[in-house]
Amino acid sequence: VPPDPDLDALYRTPADGFAELADTYDARLAGNPALLLESAAVLASLPDLSGARVADLGCGTGRYALQLARFGAREVAGIDLSPEMLRVARRKSERSEDGPLPVTWREGDLCGCLPAEDNTFDAAVCALVVSFLPELAEPFHEIARVLRPGGTLVVSDLHPHGLCAARAASAAVGRRDHAPYLRFTAASGEEWRITRTPHTAADWFAAAQNAGLVLEQMAEPLADRRLASTYPTLRDQVGVPLALVMRFRRRREEP
Ligand SMILES: C[S@@+](CC[C@H](N)C(=O)[O-])C[C@H]1O[C@@H](n2cnc3c(N)ncnc32)[C@H](O)[C@@H]1O
Repeated sequence: VPPDPDLDALYRTPADGFAELADTYDARLAGNPALLLESAAVLASLPDLSGARVADLGCGTGRYALQLARFGAREVAGIDLSPEMLRVARRKSERSEDGPLPVTWREGDLCGCLPAEDNTFDAAVCALVVSFLPELAEPFHEIARVLRPGGTLVVSDLHPHGLCAARAASAAVGRRDHAPYLRFTAASGEEWRITRTPHTAADWFAAAQNAGLVLEQMAEPLADRRLASTYPTLRDQVGVPLALVMRFRRRREEP
């Protein structure tokens, strides 16, 4: 299929794309049934956070960071590539009805060096970020570096099954777009897309294992009839896994 400059012009990097999305991100997420399943599985995977030092990696507007603070964590670091997403997160934490929350917001790139010392966190969440990372080896090493030995990592995303199906559907009609992607309308009225990579469950497992993270638990919550009766868009997806959530523990150092 020949190159198509018009198509290429639709694509933005995660940094540019999430800068544009920041102010409308929370509203866009609201009522997404896949995320109802995802967040139930993430919350069920979390260890007891009382008094813990915790990170929300790729925290966006603070969906988990703020909850982790409310669950009794002593310190929460919300870390994200996008200053605009962090600005929304900071504003939410300042306006929290629970009073001051022990959260700090920091810019940091999972594909580079996270702004934290080695062995800092007792637990970390990395939600809905993996498919925006072109490769997983370095990010998982970086996450393992900032977790203490024995610390817990919970990773979630939309299920790769759906992301692979989007790629297959695009290839089947001969399109050369970079499916799967997150597509949205920018304030200018233009269509923008952020490319996603459908890393499989085996990719997550291998990257984590190579970084010294041991898989402890895994969930693939499915759309069911009850959810489909509330969300008609799911009618054709009953029995399909909508989210993937894995919990890892950082291996303790050999004595
Ligand atoms: C779909 S949002 C998820 C936000 C939040 N974790 C949630 O669950 O609502 C993806 C976030 O990942 C961030 N992100 C993408 N690539 C990143 C990277 N390499 N390092 C750090 N954050 C990244 C984006 O800026 C964005 O805020």
